[in-house]
This record gives sequence, structure tokens and C-alpha cells, in this order.
Amino acid sequence: MTSTAPRPHAAEPDAAADMSPAGTATNPVPTAAAPAPALPHVVEFRNVTKTYAAGTPKACMAIQDISFVVEDLADHGEFITVLGPSGCGKSTILRLIAGLAPQHPPTTGDVLVLGQPVAGPGADRGMVFQDYTSFDHRTVLDNVTFGLECRGAGRDERYTLGREWIRRVGLAADDERKYPHQLSGGMRQRVAIARTLVLRPRIILMDEPFGALDPQTRMHMQDLLVTLWRDVQATVFFVTHSIEEAVYLGDRVYVLSSAPGRLVEERKVPPPDRPALAMRKERDFQETVAYIRDLVSRLDEGA
Ligand SMILES: Nc1ncnc2c1ncn2[C@@H]1O[C@H](COP(=O)(O)OP(=O)(O)O)[C@@H](O)[C@H]1O
Ligand SMILES: [Mg+2]
Repeated sequence: MTSTAPRPHAAEPDAAADMSPAGTATNPVPTAAAPAPALPHVVEFRNVTKTYAAGTPKACMAIQDISFVVEDLADHGEFITVLGPSGCGKSTILRLIAGLAPQHPPTTGDVLVLGQPVAGPGADRGMVFQDYTSFDHRTVLDNVTFGLECRGAGRDERYTLGREWIRRVGLAADDERKYPHQLSGGMRQRVAIARTLVLRPRIILMDEPFGALDPQTRMHMQDLLVTLWRDVQATVFFVTHSIEEAVYLGDRVYVLSSAPGRLVEERKVPPPDRPALAMRKERDFQETVAYIRDLVSRLDEGA
């Protein structure tokens, strides 16, 4: 995992490079500026189709001919939200990016992450699911540090990082000794988020992570996620059934047709620069929600 490695963004002027060993600036020789090398796309789908049980009588096409590109923007991981009817292939898309079978590999087309075809799961990608996937017999701290343990991190490093993330997701210090059954749904999702972010993935895949939460808790979690996402600068793919949630959290909203899912709209939306409750009251926000609601209901009617 390259958690501490700087991201290879466009070359920044390096002050030290212009200094002589004595510390005096050398005369810069004017040279033609070399174009910055193109960065690989964070995620790219090229005409991806997934048919489960292909070639059998039970064949089921989940997604069809999906293409999109998520670019590597300097100092800004994009937040992509994915909307679409049940069964249209949202989870299939996330798990293809994660490299998890049986979704991986695609039936046809290419799934690329950071310019390379996905060959399987990797430390550059982390996943948060809707259902609470903590280990029941492990404490909060041991759940949060599970991935670090798998990577062979020592106990001190694990626990220092684990406690930092427990705090960052808004859990209390004494929650670290609790077991999952002692936590509310919102707290469990905080654990799930901490467990993923402690590993500092470049890409965070979230499959309806707040789907089981009550509306109030859900809004708190949305605000928390926005704060954390700004800090970690990861690219997020976030699947949801809630149009409001998609429009609030997203830089871009992807809308899929009913099964087999095709990408029917990619809409740029204003970033979440205010708390969820405030932004929801704004006219622009409500107009975007109304536009997408209309699009989704036309798709549901098969228009
Ligand atoms: N492992 C699988 N084997 C066979 N069919 C599957 C499998 N996973 C999903 N499907 C089917 O693929 C379609 C898309 O599923 P999914 O990606 O889970 O949709 P969504 O997340 O949008 O609800 C559905 O018809 C579903 O039944
Ligand atoms: Mg799903």
C-alpha cells in the first residue's frame, strides 16, 4: 500500500532544484516547458458488459456496454454517486472495480484502475458495505485495525492508527473496547468507515453504506463522510437509492437504466460545501433533485 507515498500529481515547481549547493539561486536557463506527463485515469470502464452464468440457460446480463472515465484531478479525488433501480448492476460495477469474483472479470470490455487492467483485489481499493460486516468477536479497535494486522503492522502502529481513526469517525475513546452488538447502526457504520480509511485506499467503494440508517443519523453520516473525504483525497464511488443523498454527496451523479444497466446520464452537480441540512433547502439543489427524479421515473416507466 502506498499510503504515505505522495500522489503523482502534475509537476510542482521544486524550489530546491533551483538552488546551488551554496544556497544561492542559479540563473535559470529558459527552456521550453515540457508538457506534464498525462496521469493514468483513476478508474476507466471501456465497453464493459457483465453476464452472469454466460453461455448457460441461466445467463443474466447485469450491465451492458458501460464506458466512463474518472480522471486523476490534482488534489481532488472525485466523489461519484451511482443511482439506478434495484437489480440494474450497481453492486456489479463496484465489485468489478474492487476485483471481486464472481463480478470480476467482466464478460467483455476492460476495467482499468490507475491505468492498469484490474486483476483482482488490491490495497489501492477499499470497500464499505450496507450490512454491518464487523467481526462480532472482535472489539471496535480490533475491527478497525484488522486490515493493518493482515498487512503485518506491529501492535503499536496498529493501535495508534486505529485510535486516531476511531476519533476521526466520531466515536468516543471508550468505544474502542466495545463489541459490535453493543453499538447502534450509525456507530457500526462509523467502525466500517474507519476500518476502510485506516488503510488509506486511493479508491473507496461504498455500496449503500447508509441505507439502513434513520434519516437523522444518515445526514450526520453524510456530513462526516464529506469531511473525511476532503482529508483523505480519495476517489469515492458511492451507490445509493436516495436521489437527495446522491446529489448532496456527489461531484458527479451516474444514473443507470433498469436491467441490464446502461449508463444513461453523467451529471456534474455542485460539491457539498455546506452541511447536508442547509444545502437541501437551496433552490439549485432542489432543481437538480427534481431533474434526476424525473429522469429516474421515466427510466422506471421504460421510456
Ligand atoms: N453472483 C451473481 N450470480 C448471478 N446473478 C447475479 C449475481 N449477482 C448479481 N446478479 C444479478 O445481476 C443483476 C444486477 O445485480 P446487482 O449488481 O446486485 O444490482 P444492484 O446492486 O443494482 O441492485 C441482478 O439481476 C442480479 O440478480
Ligand atoms: Mg446492490
